[in-house]
Amino acid sequence: MSSILLITSSPRGADSLSTSVATDLAEKLKAQTGATIVHRDLSEKPLAHMDGVFTSAIRKAADDRSSAESVAAAVSDELTHELLAADTLVIGTGLINFNIYSSLKTWIDHVARAGLTFKYGESGPVGLATVKKAYIVLASGGVYSTGPAVSMNHAVPYLKSVLGFMGMTDVETVYVEGLAYGPEAAEKSVAAAHAKVAELAQAA
Ligand SMILES: Cc1cc2nc3c(=O)[nH]c(=O)nc-3n(C[C@H](O)[C@H](O)[C@H](O)COP(=O)(O)O)c2cc1C
Repeated sequence: MSSILLITSSPRGADSLSTSVATDLAEKLKAQTGATIVHRDLSEKPLAHMDGVFTSAIRKAADDRSSAESVAAAVSDELTHELLAADTLVIGTGLINFNIYSSLKTWIDHVARAGLTFKYGESGPVGLATVKKAYIVLASGGVYSTGPAVSMNHAVPYLKSVLGFMGMTDVETVYVEGLAYGPEAAEKSVAAAHAKVAELAQAA
């Protein structure tokens, strides 16, 4: 059975718009395709930031690791295999100081693993992740999908780069934006995001 990996990163719980729209998307994809959902809530269960133990562990063969390195590698291995087992990836994040939530950046640091999700071939990097379709849900106070602030959106270009590096090149983006432009604008934007989610799920 196909599997959807849902990654949410907001610390705002039930108030988070990236989490609620990303969850709606995962559930609609599940209803459309019969896939199962594996949900990683990076805020509820935060991952450790990279440290010296981690960076050393991922460069060594399993047998050569210290016990602390084995523990650090085990978390990264679990997350990486979770990603490698998925056919569909749904990522929810807010735009935070023009980029992604740091909890999501830490997840990426755990799953971008040489030899597992990418490798270097004779003509450069080769992505090894087998996810066929990835979705990004980005919630933001301002408007970044179009207009003068497009170049300040470092979240979507960054996510597309790193997903592409790992082999995930078919990526759709749902913007939940202009949330700081007043309640009416926010309500309209949330409704438009849920409508886009319904369209995307229908097309899956
Ligand atoms: C610390 C912080 C930084 C933020 N930075 C930006 C930003 O750079 N641009 C923007 O449009 N909104 C920014 N926002 C607003 C969030 O993107 C917005 O609240 C969004 O809904 C957060 O996602 P969430 O609802 O999933 O938590 C920021 C909010 C916080 C708390």
